[in-house]
Amino acid sequence: MGTARGFGVDIGGSGIKGCPVDIEGGVLAEERMRIPTPQPSTPSAVADAVAEIVDKFSWTGPVGITLPCVVKDGTALTAANIDKGWIGTDAQALFAERLGRAREDVVVLNDADAAGIAEMRAGAGAGHRGLVVVLTFGTGIGSAMFIDGRLVPNTEFGHIEVDGHDAETQAAASVKDELDLSYPEWAPRVTRYVQALEQFLWPDLIIAGGGVSKKGHKWIPLLETRTPVVAAALRNDAGIVGAATAATSGNA
Ligand code: BGC
Repeated sequence: MGTARGFGVDIGGSGIKGCPVDIEGGVLAEERMRIPTPQPSTPSAVADAVAEIVDKFSWTGPVGITLPCVVKDGTALTAANIDKGWIGTDAQALFAERLGRAREDVVVLNDADAAGIAEMRAGAGAGHRGLVVVLTFGTGIGSAMFIDGRLVPNTEFGHIEVDGHDAETQAAASVKDELDLSYPEWAPRVTRYVQALEQFLWPDLIIAGGGVSKKGHKWIPLLETRTPVVAAALRNDAGIVGAATAATSGNA
């Protein structure tokens, strides 16, 4: 056992955050750097921001990068909360070129999948077998599904239809902010969403992540769901840690 380090970058709707990661410990190895997501968040502008962060740390090894998109073989296929120019972009090639690295030294994966990888290894999901679903509540709702610890990538449970609406437009954390809802006002929206998901899935555990998981004690106990729900342990760092882990261990 050494102190293997990796590097993760988490690309979100409002900020791009990155830093070296202690892979064994599943924690940030240094203080992370954050820059606001360029607007519009085009592939080229975002790639420049990612390069700025990686250069800041003089990092030369492999890099894991998240996108709020379905990502297959390095190519982004959806773009719900980021510039539509990402759809069809070979993000792995773009970042490899911008970072001056070989394609195989760059791993690109969905942001919620990355957060889930980190939670399952070193967070609230550690040691949990069975069906575990990680839900990240932020600008949208992201999801990551694990069966006996193994990721089923690119689930998009944030977009299931609930009462005729795209679920994330009703229950994301951004909706709480936009409508200025208190936790007791927002929690029934999350209950409704999770209950709709539970019609199709019987998870053994749901891990609630995203920035709002920091205040999980204010709303998770108010949820009325069949499945036990616990707060994510790594909170906002999970995406960075999971991306670095995926790039270092090939766990994408
Ligand atoms: C996207 C997902 C993403 C989630 C969280 C959703 O709108 O479709 O791919 O994981 O937001 O960012």
